[in-house]
Amino acid sequence: MQKFFSVTVCSCLCMLVTMAQPDKQQGKIGIQGKDDQGNFINAHGVGILYFSGTYYLFGEIKKGNTYLVPGQNWEDYRVPAGGVSCYSSKDLAQWKYEGIALSPVTGDPDNDLDTSRVIERPKVIYNERTRKFIMWMHMDKSDYSFAHAGVAVSDRPEGPYKYLGSVRPNGQESRDMTVFKDDNDKAYLVYASENNNTMHICPLSEDYLSPTSNFNRILIDQRREAPALFKHNGKYFLITSLCSGWSPNAALYSVADSMMGKWENRGNSCTGPGSDTTFAAQSSFVLSLQETPGSFIFMADRWNKTNLAHSGYLWIPFRVEQDVLKIQNNNEIADHFWDKSGRVRSVNAMADQWRPEAWVGAASILQQRVHVDPYAVLQFAIKIKGEEGSSKGKSFIQFYDSADRKLLEYKNNFTSAQAFQQTGNYTEAPPYTHYAMIGIETDSSNSGTLYVDSFHLELNIGEPAVRRTTTCNLDQYMRPFWNSDTVFNETVLMLSDSGKAAGGRLLYTPDHIISVRRFDMAEEYKKGQDYNIQGRSIQRTSHSGITSVDGNFFDKKNDLAWFNLQSRWILVTYTHHDPWTGPRPVFKGDRLPLLMKKLKSKSSLTIIGYGMSITRGMNISSYDDVPPYMPSYLELFARQLRKKYEYTDITMVNAALPGALVSWGADNADAYLNPLHPDLVIIDFGMNDFWRYTPEEFKKYIQTIISKVKEKNPGTEFILISTMDFDPAYILDTDKNKSFYVSNIQGYKKVLREMETSGIINLDMTSLSDAIYSRKKAKDCITNPLHPNDYLARWYAQCITALVCRSY
Ligand code: GAL
Repeated sequence: MQKFFSVTVCSCLCMLVTMAQPDKQQGKIGIQGKDDQGNFINAHGVGILYFSGTYYLFGEIKKGNTYLVPGQNWEDYRVPAGGVSCYSSKDLAQWKYEGIALSPVTGDPDNDLDTSRVIERPKVIYNERTRKFIMWMHMDKSDYSFAHAGVAVSDRPEGPYKYLGSVRPNGQESRDMTVFKDDNDKAYLVYASENNNTMHICPLSEDYLSPTSNFNRILIDQRREAPALFKHNGKYFLITSLCSGWSPNAALYSVADSMMGKWENRGNSCTGPGSDTTFAAQSSFVLSLQETPGSFIFMADRWNKTNLAHSGYLWIPFRVEQDVLKIQNNNEIADHFWDKSGRVRSVNAMADQWRPEAWVGAASILQQRVHVDPYAVLQFAIKIKGEEGSSKGKSFIQFYDSADRKLLEYKNNFTSAQAFQQTGNYTEAPPYTHYAMIGIETDSSNSGTLYVDSFHLELNIGEPAVRRTTTCNLDQYMRPFWNSDTVFNETVLMLSDSGKAAGGRLLYTPDHIISVRRFDMAEEYKKGQDYNIQGRSIQRTSHSGITSVDGNFFDKKNDLAWFNLQSRWILVTYTHHDPWTGPRPVFKGDRLPLLMKKLKSKSSLTIIGYGMSITRGMNISSYDDVPPYMPSYLELFARQLRKKYEYTDITMVNAALPGALVSWGADNADAYLNPLHPDLVIIDFGMNDFWRYTPEEFKKYIQTIISKVKEKNPGTEFILISTMDFDPAYILDTDKNKSFYVSNIQGYKKVLREMETSGIINLDMTSLSDAIYSRKKAKDCITNPLHPNDYLARWYAQCITALVCRSY
C-alpha cells in the first residue's frame, strides 16, 4: 500500500497497470488461466508451499465491486476481504482448486476476518516439529491503520486454517509481509514497518506461531514493501517494491549473508523493457524450484486498482548467476531452463519458454533438467535439420536418482538432413527416478551446424490432473461374475443396425432387473418406457432416453478402423440364477508358495504390474477421467487382496508403459523391476506384439523378463496374463495378415500356459474375453478395438484375485 498521507503517485505509472486475464496457454506454468473446475484462479499476493511433491498456492480472494475508501488522501481502493484461497498443482501449470483455506466473516467489523477489513499476502510454511501448517498474513482495517500480522494454523496443507489472532510484532507495525523458512527450519516474518519506511525481519518462535523479541531493521527509510525472499548458494535475496499503492514501480533487490545481518542493495532485480515498472507488476513471492536448484519463479501481481477483482498475475522463471538478479520479461526466458555446453549459439523461446530454437555446433549439448516421478510416462520430441553439412548426434532422455546416479538412458541416434526431421523419445521413468535430463548431443565429428526447433515435452502422460474419487461401489464391482447371483453395472452398448431398434445382450438371463442406468450413473431408465427385456436381450423403446449408437458409427470398410465408445454404454444391474459356462478362473496359489506364505503371515508385499496400455488402465473410466472413475485392474486387485487377507501392507506399482512391446519389457526388466525387489510381477504384454512377434518370439521375451528378474530376485513369482482378444471386427477378413495376427494372439495364450511351473502361473484372458464376446458382443466390453472398458477390466481384476484367493 501507499503509506497513508504520503507521497504522490506518479500518475503515468498508473497508466501502465495492465489488467485482464490473458488466456492460459496449455501446459504453461502460471495462474493466468482456469483451475480444474473451469474458474479463473483467484489468488492474489500469492505464497507457495511445496509439500510432499505438491505445490500449494495461497492467495487473496478478490471479488466484488471495487470501492474507494472514503476520507483517505490516497488511492485506497478496496474490495471486500474475501479470505484466502488454496490451489494445488504438481506441475505449476494445472491447478486444482482446494477451496477456501481461510474464510472471512461477515457483519462483525471488530473481527480481523470481517469482509470490511483487509486480509492480504498470505504465506504458509510447515513446522516439522509440530507437524502443523502455519499461515501468516497482513491483517488491516480498510484505512490500513491496524497494521497487524495475523496467524492461522491447520493440520493439512490445504486447510481449513484456524485463525489464532494478530499481533504487532514487538509493538511494531506490520503491513506488506512475507514469511521465510530457512534450511535449518528457522522461520522469519519480514514486514513493512515504521509507517512503511523501514522493513523488519523478526525470527518466529519454534512453533512459528509468534514473533520473538528480536528484530532486524533493514532498508531503513527506503519505503519498501511487497517483500519476496529466497535463498541461493547460502545468500539471501530480498525483492521489494517501492510504496506507491496499487501502481507499479521499479523493483529493488537486496542481498545478505544472514537474515539478521546486513542487507546490501543491488539495484533493480529486473532488466530489459518494462523493468522500470517491474513489467507493470508488484512482487509477491519467489518460488525456488526444488528439482532444479538455481531456478526460480518470480511471482507478481498486476493490480487493476479500479477493478481489483480483475487484477492479473505475472510469473517469470529466472536463474541466479553469481549473485546477480536479471529478471527479464521477454521471450528469451527459455534460456533459463537450458543447460548448454559446447557451441550452442542461442536458445530463444518461440511461443513460450518450452520451445527453443538453437544452433548447435560439434560436440555440444543442449539439455534440460526436469522433475520426473518414478513410472511417469513422458515424451520428448524436437525437430532438427542440418544448416550446412550434416551433423551426427543423439536425442536422449536420461533418468537420474536423487544422488545424481544415472539409472537409465534412452537415445535416438540421428544424422541430420537438409529438411526438418523429428527426433525424440517416449518412455517411462524407472523406479527411484528423481529427475531426467532431456536434450540433444552432437558428436565431435560434426561438420555442420544443427538447427533445432519445436521442442516438445509432455510429462505425466495419461495422469489426470486431478485424481477423482471413485463413484461406484468397488465391493460390488469385485463380486465375481462367474460366482454370484447379482451382476452389478454390466455394460451394454445399445447398438442399432440397419435402422432397427437399438439393443444389446446381457451375459446372463435376468430374473430381476434392479436398475438400468446411464454410464455415469446420473440417470436411471425405466422399464417399459425406456427399454424392454426379453430373455437376455435388452431393447430400446422408440421414445427412450437411452443413448444408443448407430451401426454407421463404425467404419466397416477400412481395416484397423479405430473407434471410441467411452461412456456410451448403459449399466445394467440384475439378478440371475443361470451359471457361467465359460472358462472359470481357478485358485492357483499352490504354485505361488512364497506369495501365499507372505499373504498368510500378512508380510509386507510388493507387486509390480509390467505390461502395456491395458495394464496401465488405459481407457477405463479413471484413466479417461470420466465418472465413475473406476481404478485400474491392478489397483482393484490390490484392494481386494488387502481385503481378503486383512492387511494393508501390500504395495501395487504400475510399471506398465502404454504402447510397450514385449521386447521393450525384456530389454528393460532389470531397470524397471529389480530395484523394487518385487514379490510378485504381473506380466501383461501382447496387444502391441501380435503385429510382429510369433508366439515363440513372444515366449522368448517373456522368458527373458523372468530370468532377468530371477537373477537378482530369485524369490519373485509371476502371473503371466494372456491378453484379452482385440475386437474381432477390427481386422477385416480381407487383411492378408489377419490370420497372422489372430494366430499370434491365440498362440501367446498357449505359450504362456506352457510356461506355468512352480512360481509362475498363467491367467488366460484371451479365452475368457472370447467367451464373453460370443455371449454378448465385444463392443459391450471394450472402449476401443484394443482396450477393455470398466466391465472387462473388472473381469481382469476378479480373475487375478481368484488365482490367489481360495475362497473367492
Ligand atoms: C500495495 C500493497 C498491496 C496492498 C495495496 C493497497 O502497495 O503491496 O498488498 O496493500 O498497497 O493500496
